[in-house]
Amino acid sequence: MSNVELNHVLRADQFANDELLDTVFDQAARIQDNLGSSLHNNSMRLELAGKTLFNLFYEPSTRTSFSFQMAASRLGMTVLGTENGKDFSSLAKGESLEDTARTLAGYRPDVFVIRHKDDGAAEQFSAETSGIPVINAGDGKNEHPTQSLLDVYTIQRAFGRRDNLKIAIGGDIAHGRTAKSLMRLLGRYGSNEFALIAPEVSNIGKEPLLQQEVAELPASFTTYHELNAQILEDADVVYWTRTQTERGAGETDERFRLEPSHLENMNPEGIIMHPLPRVGELSHAIDEDPRAIYFEQAANGVPIRMALLRMLVEKAV
Ligand code: NCD
Repeated sequence: MSNVELNHVLRADQFANDELLDTVFDQAARIQDNLGSSLHNNSMRLELAGKTLFNLFYEPSTRTSFSFQMAASRLGMTVLGTENGKDFSSLAKGESLEDTARTLAGYRPDVFVIRHKDDGAAEQFSAETSGIPVINAGDGKNEHPTQSLLDVYTIQRAFGRRDNLKIAIGGDIAHGRTAKSLMRLLGRYGSNEFALIAPEVSNIGKEPLLQQEVAELPASFTTYHELNAQILEDADVVYWTRTQTERGAGETDERFRLEPSHLENMNPEGIIMHPLPRVGELSHAIDEDPRAIYFEQAANGVPIRMALLRMLVEKAV
């Protein structure tokens, strides 16, 4: 039982608390380790029966949307949602997010999941739901807290720890949200060492506020504007991300395409992660590397989101 009250999931730093993180991860592990048991699955399906989740996606999604739906359905919830809210909701008619929130809150769902192109949208939305919990499934280039939870859970399952790690993050750090939430979560352990590998236009220097935020975290951060095997030497975690072209990041810079040759001196016990989707920045040849665990990482989204739903809806954790 964690003493930290969680009303919404909006930012990764809400989980800057070891007791809370352990509670979420223990719950997720228990769920995951029992997924093969029909007795367990049947009892899980009764947990949140009669509760409703509103799944509002104003930006494209495969993993996040499906894993929330899957998590909710494994807990017996009813899921109602919009896959393409940008075109198929009243937002397309010019309705404000606040009005949408007030209207939908009036239908009394038990939890909202929202993804939106604007930084801060989930937080804004949560101010108008009369206390109904809101989960941020990605707001612009700002945050993706549930992704960072499943990322850290994946790391912890692999290493048995979340500190004392060498983490190389590459690709598009400035315009993406997954790397930022991950840095916010793991950056508070002083023994973690980050290498941030991206062209200048996509590295933290592009965002002075982020740079300042990162500088204040206890972990160490070194930025690199080129990719070579030497930087990845000894890395425990290599975490790659795609170029966020839809956020004005331009085209993928071929010089930052991760290839098997870059990983030759990486820790043989290490792991290669990616939030997915990949669109050319991560060679398919890396899939053969036993350290590549991005599909397992994606699968971990279901137990993590089940744990969060139980916590928010049932206040069970
Ligand atoms: C990420 C996102 O939406 O931020 N996808 C995901 O949720 N796994 C990463 C991305 O789109 O690049």
